Amino acid sequence: MNPSIMILNVLKKILSSKTIQLSLEEENIIRNSLMQRGGVSVEELFELKNKTAVLNNKDDIWNVEYIASKLKAFNIGVVKYFDEIASTQGISMKLASEKQSGYSLVIAGRQFRGRGRYGRLWFSDYGGLWFSIGFSKPNKTGLRPALSLATGLGVVKGIEATLLLRLGLKWPNDIVWNRRKVGGILIESLVSEESTVFTVGIGLNVNNPIEKLPQNVGKIATSISRIVGHQIPRVPLLLNIVSNTIISIEKYFTSPGRIVEEWKEYDVLYGRQVSVELYPGKIVKGVEKGVSRGGELLLEDNTGKIVRVAMGEIVGFYGT
Ligand code: BTN
Repeated sequence: MNPSIMILNVLKKILSSKTIQLSLEEENIIRNSLMQRGGVSVEELFELKNKTAVLNNKDDIWNVEYIASKLKAFNIGVVKYFDEIASTQGISMKLASEKQSGYSLVIAGRQFRGRGRYGRLWFSDYGGLWFSIGFSKPNKTGLRPALSLATGLGVVKGIEATLLLRLGLKWPNDIVWNRRKVGGILIESLVSEESTVFTVGIGLNVNNPIEKLPQNVGKIATSISRIVGHQIPRVPLLLNIVSNTIISIEKYFTSPGRIVEEWKEYDVLYGRQVSVELYPGKIVKGVEKGVSRGGELLLEDNTGKIVRVAMGEIVGFYGT
């Protein structure tokens, strides 16, 4: 079909219907045409779709109004869905900086430059759950390690509540199953005189094909659908994870000690000998003794002394 006629048909669909299903061909034509014209970005197109339509991405219905209504009780004011975006982190930080109170949620169907810890690329194909929760706190709250623990705890509790599947946590915030990584958390913050803006990015392999990941990542990763043996409806899972994460974050800001106690119940490495890379080339070893109230990892060295680690990565865990 002539591309102009196709664009016209799609616009008619958007204007006339509450739900919209674009074929791949229609979507590509629109995408290319928007890019050539340089007027409207692909993100704006999807924003338009979000406003006017229910968007279907690989068997799940991403209806932002429905998601927002279910999360209203958890003080989520804004929900945005992008079928495809570089990373949910940037837009989430922008929204959280603009908003005075409450939480915002940015979800992606796919990220083409997903960000992991230490500047790594986070592979985020269709089928996973990739989202960021943004919020701001008064004063220079700053980033503290226990916020990562609180987030991880919310994520595993949300998964457990939806699927009766109990995953584990590896300090500071990997979600794991049988020595394989199911998901990760990236927290970024922006501190100013009056406030600290936080963006809590959560990435979970759910229905996305692990075999499509680069070999070095795929061999240490797994997905929830692989663990349970079938595809998972992601919207209820998302709702439970977001609500549990917000409860956990709020709890962290009021009584951090409780978070740390609960976190220990999911700690897969308690009592094990571990190596932690503090920075490239600098490794400390010891027996993992849980976490401090501030979220630091506690290691007992071979003299029986407890060493506190605020930042670093436990190495030699996955796939071994
Ligand atoms: C890690 O390295 O383990 C952290 C991975 C965090 C990935 C999530 S996916 C949603 C959000 N957007 C990003 O670009 N990164 C985080």
